[in-house]
Amino acid sequence: MGDKKERKKSSIGGKKNKALGKIKCDKEIIRLTGVSKIYHMGDTTVRAVDGIDVCISEGDFVAIMGPSGSGKSTSMNLVGSLDMPSMGKILLDGEDISTLTESDLAQIRGKKIGFIFQNFNLIPNLTVKENVMLPMMFQGTDIYERAVTAEDLLRKVDLGDRMDHYPNQISGGQMQRVAIARALANDPEVILADEPTGNLDTKTGEKVMEFLQQLNKEGKTIIMVTHEPELAEAYAEKVYWLRDGKVEKTTHKKNGFKVEAEERALHRKHGWNGKKGNRKSRKGLDKKKLVKGKQAKKGGK
Ligand SMILES: Nc1ncnc2c1ncn2[C@@H]1O[C@H](COP(=O)(O)OP(=O)(O)OP(=O)(O)O)[C@@H](O)[C@H]1O
Ligand SMILES: [Mg+2]
Repeated sequence: MGDKKERKKSSIGGKKNKALGKIKCDKEIIRLTGVSKIYHMGDTTVRAVDGIDVCISEGDFVAIMGPSGSGKSTSMNLVGSLDMPSMGKILLDGEDISTLTESDLAQIRGKKIGFIFQNFNLIPNLTVKENVMLPMMFQGTDIYERAVTAEDLLRKVDLGDRMDHYPNQISGGQMQRVAIARALANDPEVILADEPTGNLDTKTGEKVMEFLQQLNKEGKTIIMVTHEPELAEAYAEKVYWLRDGKVEKTTHKKNGFKVEAEERALHRKHGWNGKKGNRKSRKGLDKKKLVKGKQAKKGGK
């Protein structure tokens, strides 16, 4: 769908981007075409996102990778229509978001997309359960259903015994699980996760990733920002590699993504944390589990 056009526009990286033509985007949910986000700071212009084309299909597991400041979070906010582009077009389920009123957009976004933020973004003066109930309130769900759904979701993320705690009374890993439960509150088609394991220890991070993988197997579309090639390698089917606000390349592998030598070389050269030789490493990452994850994916798809 529109791949010819996309191929033409995404000529960054030249020949390498020929692969883009092979990326299928049928059952498209979100499409960004020539999207830029430009900030003006006094005399300086920051092109946080600079003419990107992105297409997300139903059931995708997509990773957005790149060094610090490359525009990952900005792109994510645009993909989730939390932010309006300075240029270009964003289609959410075929609808041009610029034609929607603010409240229509909030309504559609609240129903279709669940967000998981790196810093959790829980509301401190609401209990765990109330935090999960909140997105349903904005959709007009009645209070009884909100409470029952929140309790179910919290049990699903193993927090049945922490529902009445406040965010400052639970651990970081538990906060992230609350954030996941909250993202699932309106049973969205798409889950956007910005560095979902960034603030977690390796083991807790793996649990969160396994949970996201399970949701993907159940049919949810997952879009994840990460600094970590290992995570993309283990879980994502398609990876958008950003640099200076542009899509440097897109790689796509069915049945288990394998980071190619080329990406590894880029990674070694620049360091995906923006500092050469100082990448945030997941040294302790259990490779067996990652392989298991890949195999599960093979079996599940
Ligand atoms: N509101 C803003 N006003 C001005 N500049 C901004 C704003 N938001 C982001 N930027 C700039 O846009 C660029 C991209 O920022 P973004 O947060 O998307 O990066 P990122 O890839 O998510 O980085 P990180 O890995 O550190 O989270 C950065 O140079 C940042 O300083
Ligand atoms: Mg970011």
